[in-house]
Amino acid sequence: MPKKRCLMIGAGGMAGGWIRNFYPRYNDRHEIVGLVDVNREVLDSTGDFLNLAPNRRFTDMKTAFDTIEADYCTIVIPPAYHIDAVMLAVEKKIDILSEKPIADTWDACVDIYRAVKQTDIRMLVIQNYRYSRRMLTMRNVLRNGTLGRINYIMGRFAADYRKYGSWGAFRHEIPHSLLVEGAVHHFDMLRNLSGGNCRTIGGWEWNTPWSSFKGECCAMYVMEMTNGVKASYEGSGTAAAMQNSWHQEYYRVECEDGAVAIGRDGVTRLYRHTAGKGITIEDVTPIIPEHDGHQWLINEFLTWLEGGPTPDTVIDDNIKSVAMVFGAIEASRTHQMVDVEAMVAAIA
Ligand SMILES: NC(=O)c1ccc[n+]([C@@H]2O[C@H](COP(=O)([O-])OP(=O)(O)OC[C@H]3O[C@@H](n4cnc5c(N)ncnc54)[C@H](O)[C@@H]3O)[C@@H](O)[C@H]2O)c1
Repeated sequence: MPKKRCLMIGAGGMAGGWIRNFYPRYNDRHEIVGLVDVNREVLDSTGDFLNLAPNRRFTDMKTAFDTIEADYCTIVIPPAYHIDAVMLAVEKKIDILSEKPIADTWDACVDIYRAVKQTDIRMLVIQNYRYSRRMLTMRNVLRNGTLGRINYIMGRFAADYRKYGSWGAFRHEIPHSLLVEGAVHHFDMLRNLSGGNCRTIGGWEWNTPWSSFKGECCAMYVMEMTNGVKASYEGSGTAAAMQNSWHQEYYRVECEDGAVAIGRDGVTRLYRHTAGKGITIEDVTPIIPEHDGHQWLINEFLTWLEGGPTPDTVIDDNIKSVAMVFGAIEASRTHQMVDVEAMVAAIA
């Protein structure tokens, strides 16, 4: 099978990680044939790493899309620019593998969704946390019925980003920074763990007077899922005490016959109470996937392009996670519960 040709949008930051760490394993199935970054220095350093000819390096994505013949593009630039790349990919009818979130506003997400669906191209959105060892293990406990039916879920993210730039400069500048850049992962995880979609969401996002962010860096929300499961989310980008940062998030799912929880040490544990005997705690043997996190999704995406099955986090599904983010923003603004299911239904 010929290698899939990739136009890579982004060369530094997370894109540098994609190119240097995630993608090389798949060099027999794909090839980066063009590279774009507005930062010339970063473009050339990563271009040199890839041994990419100078006429395949671009500081302007329109010229890149017009010049390079590609089967798909990978989008790893800040969310505000995702729509520019997506619309060029739509124009050229090439498939898309994009970092989360779909975009930085609900209007842009809807425009992207409609353009991709109308053109009938493939678009997969990265939700790497679903496919980490720790979360695959936890989800498996919930799916295999060990603890019976799910009652409710608690999720916590807390990171000490009190120093400006410690979470990448743009995140300290944008509005709704925690929800748009952070909670989109955690809301997606609440869908993933509960097995339902979000029906309604209520709560608040806010900033603190001592924050290093211009936008809102804290959030507290409750949700009802379409299968009746309730969920609660606590998020902070200014956490001065216990940290539940990336890959150390705390999730606890209370079920019919016990609870399952995971936190900073990454061990999935079962908790059961027996009347008269007290509580027992049991560590769960971790699932070790062949492709972890981003690599799970790269493998799924290439397999999809090669004629394999449709992955889970395609745009049709992921729009339901990003709708929770913009529903949450609206809930905070209006002090009302927001009907996320209706938001999604309205765009189809
Ligand atoms: N899934 C994850 O775990 C994860 C982790 C970090 C970031 N991300 C996502 O990756 C994306 C990029 O985030 P980042 O932290 O790498 O950002 P960043 O600010 O480091 O930018 C990445 C690169 O994009 C370039 N760039 C900026 N605007 C551009 C434009 N208009 N055209 C071309 N290049 C442009 C920058 O010069 C930089 O080299 C975001 O969508 C973010 O949410 C995902």
